[in-house]
Amino acid sequence: MKRSTFSSKFGMLAAAVGSAVGLGNIWKFPYLAGENGGGAFIIVYLLCVLFLGVPALLSELSLGYIGRSNGIGAMRNITGNNRWSIIGILGFLGSFIILGFYFVVAGWSLEFVYQSVMGSFIGQSGEVITQNFDTFRFDTWRPYLWTVVFIVLTAVVLYAGVEKGIEKWSKVLMPMLFVIVAYLCVYAIFLPNSGEGYKFYFDFDFSKINADVVIAALGQAFFSLSLGMGAMMIYGSYIEKGTNLAKTSIQIASLDTLVAVLAGLVVFPAVFSFGIDPAAGPQLVFITLPTVFAQMTGGYIFSIFFFLLLAVAALTSTISILEVQIATVAEEFKMNRKLSLVLVSVIMLVVCCMCSYSLIPVEGGNELVFFGVSLFDICDIITSYIILPLGGLLIMLFLGWFYKKEDLHYVLVVETKCSEGLFKVYYFFLRFIAPLLLLAVFLQQLGLF
Ligand code: PFF
Repeated sequence: MKRSTFSSKFGMLAAAVGSAVGLGNIWKFPYLAGENGGGAFIIVYLLCVLFLGVPALLSELSLGYIGRSNGIGAMRNITGNNRWSIIGILGFLGSFIILGFYFVVAGWSLEFVYQSVMGSFIGQSGEVITQNFDTFRFDTWRPYLWTVVFIVLTAVVLYAGVEKGIEKWSKVLMPMLFVIVAYLCVYAIFLPNSGEGYKFYFDFDFSKINADVVIAALGQAFFSLSLGMGAMMIYGSYIEKGTNLAKTSIQIASLDTLVAVLAGLVVFPAVFSFGIDPAAGPQLVFITLPTVFAQMTGGYIFSIFFFLLLAVAALTSTISILEVQIATVAEEFKMNRKLSLVLVSVIMLVVCCMCSYSLIPVEGGNELVFFGVSLFDICDIITSYIILPLGGLLIMLFLGWFYKKEDLHYVLVVETKCSEGLFKVYYFFLRFIAPLLLLAVFLQQLGLF
C-alpha cells in the first residue's frame, strides 16, 4: 500500500508548526522568561533556536524524509540494519512518556475554557482562585474526565489519517490559533499599566544570564520545536519528495518562536497590569492569569479566548505525539492503523489517569509518588532532561559522523534545493557545534557538568 503523504505545502507546514506550537509556547515559555529575567532570556532563547534548534530540526525532518517510515523503521531503511534503531526506540518511548503529563495539562486547559465560559473567575480573589485550581486537580473525576476528552479528541482526528485527519485539522486550527494570539496581543495593549509589562519583557539585562539560564533556554528550544521524540521524524516521512527541507525548518522555527514571543506579549502586560509577580512559575497560566482575568474589564472574553488558545495549541501537538505511537505500532507490528490507534489510545488513557492521580495528596502517601516525586513529574523529568537531549544528540551524531556527506548533500542540495552556502553552514553546525552544545546540556542535566 502506498504510504500517505501531506497533500499540500501549506498543510504540511500547518501540521509541523502545529506540533511545535503547544503548551511549551503558551504555558512554559512565558513563565521561563518571567523567572529568568524577561528580555535577556528571549535573546538567549533566540540564539539557541538559531544555532541548535534549526540544525536539529532539519536533521530530524531529513531522517524521516529519507527513511520514509516511523523512527525505528526509518533508521533501518537508511542503514540496512538495526544498530541505529535506538533513535526510533528512544523517540517511541519518549513520546509515550511525554504524553503521560501532556494530556493531563491539556485536559486542564479544557476545564479552564469551561470555567471561563461559566464566568467562574469573575470577581474572585487570588486565594479563591488558587483553591479552585487545587480543588479541581484533586477532584475524584473532573481532571480524569477532561484528560479522557482530550485523548478522544486527538484520536478522532488521527482516525481519519494523515491527509484527511492531521492535515485537514491543522489547516483549520493553526490559522485559528494565530488569529486568537493576535487578538489577545492587541487587547493587552489597552490594559492599564501594560507598559510595565513590556518594559519587563524587553529589558535586556544581561547580568541576569548565567549557565542555568542558557541551559533552560536550550532545553526549552528543543521542547518547543518538538525535537528528539520522533514527531518531526514521522512528519518528515510524510513530506512530499522535492520539498525544500531547509526552508521548511526555518519557517517552522520562526513561526514557533513568533507564537512564544507573542504569548509573552499577552501574558506580561496582563500580569503587570494588576501588579502580580511575573515569576510565578508553572502556575502562571492556571492561577496567576485567572486572577488577572477576574479583575480585568473584559476579562470574561479574554479568558475564554486565552484558554481556547491553550487548548488548540495543545491539540495540534498531541496529534503529532500520538501519531508517533500509532504509526510505530502499526508499521513495526504490521497492524491495521485503526486497531493500533485504539490500542495505543486505551493504554494512554490508563497511563494519563495514573499521572493525574499522582498529583493528589493522599493520606498515608500517594502510591504513585516515588521518592517524593510524582509519576506526573517523573514523566516530565525523564523526557525533558534525558530523552529529548539524548535523542537529539544521537540524531546529529548519526547524520554528521556516520551518514555519508555526499548522500546528505544530494538530498538537501540536489533533491530539495537548499543553497550550497546554507548546506555548508548547516553541516558545520551539525558536526561540531550542535553535538557539543547538546552534550553539555545532557551532562548538565545529569549533574555531571
Ligand atoms: N512542541 C510542543 C510544545 O511546545 O508544547 C511539545 C512537543 C510536541 C514536544 C511534540 C515533543 C513532541 F514530539
